[in-house]
Amino acid sequence: MIGRILPPAVRWSHSFGDRDDPLFPEELALVERAVEKRRAEFATVRACAREALAALGHPPAPLLPGPRGAPVWPDGVVGSMTHCAGYRAAVVAPSDEIALLGIDAEPHAALPEGVLDTIARPEEHTSMAALPTAEGIAWDRLLFSAKESVYKAWFPVTRSWLDFDEASIVIAPDGTFTVRVLIPGFAPTGERLTGFHGRWLVDRDIVVTCIAMTGIR
Ligand SMILES: CC(C)(COP(=O)(O)OP(=O)(O)OC[C@H]1O[C@@H](n2cnc3c(N)ncnc32)[C@H](O)[C@@H]1OP(=O)(O)O)[C@@H](O)C(=O)NCCC(=O)NCCS
Repeated sequence: MIGRILPPAVRWSHSFGDRDDPLFPEELALVERAVEKRRAEFATVRACAREALAALGHPPAPLLPGPRGAPVWPDGVVGSMTHCAGYRAAVVAPSDEIALLGIDAEPHAALPEGVLDTIARPEEHTSMAALPTAEGIAWDRLLFSAKESVYKAWFPVTRSWLDFDEASIVIAPDGTFTVRVLIPGFAPTGERLTGFHGRWLVDRDIVVTCIAMTGIR
């Protein structure tokens, strides 16, 4: 389903359950002491990522976390991974075609009590209140997911933290969202990241958000 909201340059693979593909020893060492749920999602999303990388011509290789947990991709590749109850997905693209890439998936259910107030800015509360209720979309969960996608697109480029209240998101009912970043953040080229465009969908009780942009704006 994630393929419906990604441009053609992005290769992807997903899974609705866990797979038992083997991990590389370096990866195994990272989850040796993890609970089974974490080990399984870690392994499954890496199997997905290796499939997506194979579509770009990259042979299987360990996918290890770098600074602040951001995955280290092969040279010339940008990518992103997500896992939540019932869904795992990985996306990759050539870095000369896609500059910013981030995905997130969440179960399609309202956020637990109190969470929205910790992640949403006042103007986000206002714009969400105007969104249609007829289709039963959990707009608060969608906003949370969009913010996670923003961070996953932002961090690998800027190498800096971005808090929930440091980006302002407007969700549109047509399956898109726009993001205004409220703090300075710069790519290694010196270009400033001021915002993002994203897309979203809800399918099979999963909310998926993605940012896949050809250039920095
Ligand atoms: C890192 C974070 C975004 C992960 O999101 P999540 O919903 O908890 O978990 P997901 O399963 O969707 O994604 C986990 C994957 O994200 C990736 N990830 C982790 N840290 C990352 C980072 N700094 N940059 C990019 N990707 C990262 C990893 O691939 C990880 O999977 P892995 O541990 O198996 O390698 C989240 O835990 C976090 O720290 N959020 C706070 C920052 C934020 O969201 N700010 C909002 C800005 S508007």
